[in-house]
Amino acid sequence: MLVISEEDARVLVSVESAIAAVEKTFAAMARGEARNYPVVREVVGYQDAVFGVKTGCDTSAPILGLKAGGYWPHNLAKGLTNHQSSTLLFDPETGRASALVSANYLTGVRTGAASAIATKYLSRPDSTVLGIIGTGAQSAYQLRATLAVRPIRKVYAWDPSLENIATFGRIVAELGLEYAPQTDCQAVAVNADILITVTPSQRALVEKSWVRAGTHVSAMGADTKGKQELDPALVASAALFVDETAQAITIGECQHAYNAGLITAQSLRGSIGEVIAGFCDGRRTAQEITLFDGTGVALQDLVVADLALRLAAELGLGSRVEY
Ligand SMILES: NC(=O)c1ccc[n+]([C@@H]2O[C@H](COP(=O)([O-])OP(=O)(O)OC[C@H]3O[C@@H](n4cnc5c(N)ncnc54)[C@H](O)[C@@H]3O)[C@@H](O)[C@H]2O)c1
Repeated sequence: MLVISEEDARVLVSVESAIAAVEKTFAAMARGEARNYPVVREVVGYQDAVFGVKTGCDTSAPILGLKAGGYWPHNLAKGLTNHQSSTLLFDPETGRASALVSANYLTGVRTGAASAIATKYLSRPDSTVLGIIGTGAQSAYQLRATLAVRPIRKVYAWDPSLENIATFGRIVAELGLEYAPQTDCQAVAVNADILITVTPSQRALVEKSWVRAGTHVSAMGADTKGKQELDPALVASAALFVDETAQAITIGECQHAYNAGLITAQSLRGSIGEVIAGFCDGRRTAQEITLFDGTGVALQDLVVADLALRLAAELGLGSRVEY
């Protein structure tokens, strides 16, 4: 078994390679060749932690495994990030464990990849202005992934933490982009060609009337029951795409419009995998508001870990363990 550290994973998996790998597995999901198994997510009752296990198999690759981890809110004081996760890959031929991969960086890069794929297929190609609501750990991944697919020149951002807005501003400046931090969400939403929401909010931050015709929205923050970033009326009126329908209507941004009876599973235009595979239309007109509800599926985690495994084996990185 190969053990791949956090440092090695960073070196091995680039934004571009993660986008290509996730795009492939989204398409395999649409063709019925890849499947995410039921998610376990529980409040631990110790250290205020939330722990979960996401698992699945892409038979087209083939890739089999699980990502386990969650959120430990007191970690920062211990010099660790609050989100901690590890991926265990298995040889699909035999079921033997083949790799243990540190998945903190990989979770960020695969989440950025999901929204960038949605942006690539759904946003207007001439989109140059990015709006980001939430400038925490995920925001830099979202920014870098979006830059890989669209010619972004200016970035509007809002966050309740002034410190996080400033930290994010330094990354935006390092990338040579114009930065426009805002004191409210509305100013971010009205100016964006591409709007990304990536906060743990439990109430709507963006109202329907603020989002211009032709905008693409990637709602990335809601991945648990109760989390919400958008006005359900915006969700109900947009051309709606998801990573996985079952997750979107139960733990994703769609849960609120779904529970309020504003949408049904049939209201979705499709999954992003169906768009990639050519099974359904993406954006139909320049005026449409497209919305991607990215809840985060196991296969995203597994394909980036598999990429790290294959490259580590090729380059002689990682530690081999007899077990
Ligand atoms: N969809 C996915 O695949 C996926 C993957 C990873 C993380 N997430 C989710 O994305 C969200 C952000 O993750 P992160 O790692 O950047 O977290 P983080 O804690 O590093 O950052 C969150 C940011 O949101 C701000 N914030 C906190 N509470 C807020 C509120 N009520 N309203 C608005 N802003 C608020 C904070 O100031 C912070 O800057 C979380 O909900 C996380 O679970 C989703």
